[in-house]
Amino acid sequence: QRSDARDYVRSLVRTVPDWPEPGVQFRDITPVLKSARGLRTLVDIFVDRYFDARLDYVAGLDARGFLIGPIVAYELNVGFVPIRKAGKLPWKTVHESYDLEYGSATVEIHADACDAGDRIVLIDDLIATGGTMLAGKALLERLGAKVIEAAALIDLPDLGGAQRLRASGLPVFTICEFE
Ligand code: PRP
Ligand code: ADE
Repeated sequence: QRSDARDYVRSLVRTVPDWPEPGVQFRDITPVLKSARGLRTLVDIFVDRYFDARLDYVAGLDARGFLIGPIVAYELNVGFVPIRKAGKLPWKTVHESYDLEYGSATVEIHADACDAGDRIVLIDDLIATGGTMLAGKALLERLGAKVIEAAALIDLPDLGGAQRLRASGLPVFTICEFE
């Protein structure tokens, strides 16, 4: 049944060739969110996964992690922590830069977003190189939190991100894979 649920979510992901640039197969989750059954199935998979994990927070990555993370947090009866792209958070922040295919990016978290010892799952829509998840993990760990797992709807195993995360000591849970 669990694998039926995963297959169903995967079947709703739309592939857009050559977007945002030639050669990229963009994996678009908006049809999963649009479908009432798709959205419920997606959220239920994550809620089942973390129901007994004694989490303190769900953390989500800007921007597509914000579409999934808060619903999962609500269902688990815990709070949600946003990790944002640089320059968006108004209070005292901690930031972390990481490399992209071209250039670099910076993500930020509020310095009081969580406390030392908090148990947190990091959620995003997709793992490509893993750089975004690794930066999120680094921020949460700088605040003293324990990142239990990185969770995403989609893994792109050819880009090695999940492997890179596991090599850093972070367990990874994904619903489906695409080449
Ligand atoms: C995408 C995706 C992940 C990240 C994955 O976000 O939603 O957050 O890239 O790539 P990585 O594993 O190589 O770090 P993007 O930076 O396109 O931002 P967006 O959510 O604002 O569209
Ligand atoms: N982020 C990085 N690579 C992506 C892809 N192929 N589809 C959607 N989001 C992405």
